[in-house]
Amino acid sequence: MLKEINENAQSLRHTCGAFFKSNLRRLKEQLDGADKIIIVGCGTAYNSGLVAKRWFEGCGCTLVDVEVASEVRYFPPKVTKSTLVLAVSQSGETADTVEAASILRGMGAYVVAITNVDYSAITKIADQVVNVVAGCEICVAATKSYIGQLTSLYMLSQLKKGTADCGFAVLNQIAQSVESVVQNDELIDKISSLCAKSSAVFFLGRGIDYAVAVEGSLKLKEVSYIFSDGYPAGELKHGTLALVDEKTLGIIIITHVQLLEKCQSTVEQIVSRHGRVVVITTLQGVLEKLKGKAECVLTLPEADENLSPFLTATAVQLIAYKTAVKLGRNPDRPRNLAKSVTVE
Ligand code: G6P
Repeated sequence: MLKEINENAQSLRHTCGAFFKSNLRRLKEQLDGADKIIIVGCGTAYNSGLVAKRWFEGCGCTLVDVEVASEVRYFPPKVTKSTLVLAVSQSGETADTVEAASILRGMGAYVVAITNVDYSAITKIADQVVNVVAGCEICVAATKSYIGQLTSLYMLSQLKKGTADCGFAVLNQIAQSVESVVQNDELIDKISSLCAKSSAVFFLGRGIDYAVAVEGSLKLKEVSYIFSDGYPAGELKHGTLALVDEKTLGIIIITHVQLLEKCQSTVEQIVSRHGRVVVITTLQGVLEKLKGKAECVLTLPEADENLSPFLTATAVQLIAYKTAVKLGRNPDRPRNLAKSVTVE
């Protein structure tokens, strides 16, 4: 798992380069003509869609839905001949995602497969393929393929927006920052010790940070077996706050400067119930603001909030990995899970 997290920047760069081998003219036509975009996937692939929804909406797409593939099988959403489906799957073999793509295509939608594996089942169903070039991913918990999926989805959103290089330049810059997150992991070590001592860990954030929080929670539960949930920060007070005590840890992701104050109040809500708090941020000056409240503030390189998921996701992957190791669990072979689920 660690080796694969260390390859995040490479996955980003290679996927970026490969994007231009896709038929961009056809993709652009579909993006511009779409009445709705539906992103489908399972697990981490689904979670990449939660991030991408924010990107597409920011680029003027009015209707963007993210669907869990296993639900689509029995409760397919409404589609028309102008609906664009982005079916995301690292392996391209996940039965639920392949079936969902097939059903939606049968209903008239145009299906683009976003996958790390050439000639996989999903590529045979799709109208078009966008390649993720993460390289072979062996660990059950997806890491570098998630970064590759985010890269493809970001570039598609920029293609829709009309950005000349589809985001190639800014993505290559962010790849350097991803490398520095992996290299400076002293604080991540401290955070994983806090996780290892916790009975439950809640990942919280707003907007795009919420989407990464969901993936952070999935990674942690997959490899450490600690109970975890990913939550919109503002929802905490509507139920989950009842679970907060001295054994719980809140990991709050903050990358929107305009939401900093709101997130500070989330920190206070947890601390006043004796819960412990860690903050992951790309904003400067947060450490000073939260002194005496958060146990630890991990300040990542400064980044545009839209590109921040590449950094915050790398950090949460490392936290999950280190927590599993601290608890003596083998992150490469998590119990009960399979890399690719080819049955329903
Ligand atoms: C399994 C794996 C997850 C993965 C999901 C989707 O459940 O354990 O890590 O995210 O399948 O896999 P896919 O290959 O379709 O991305």
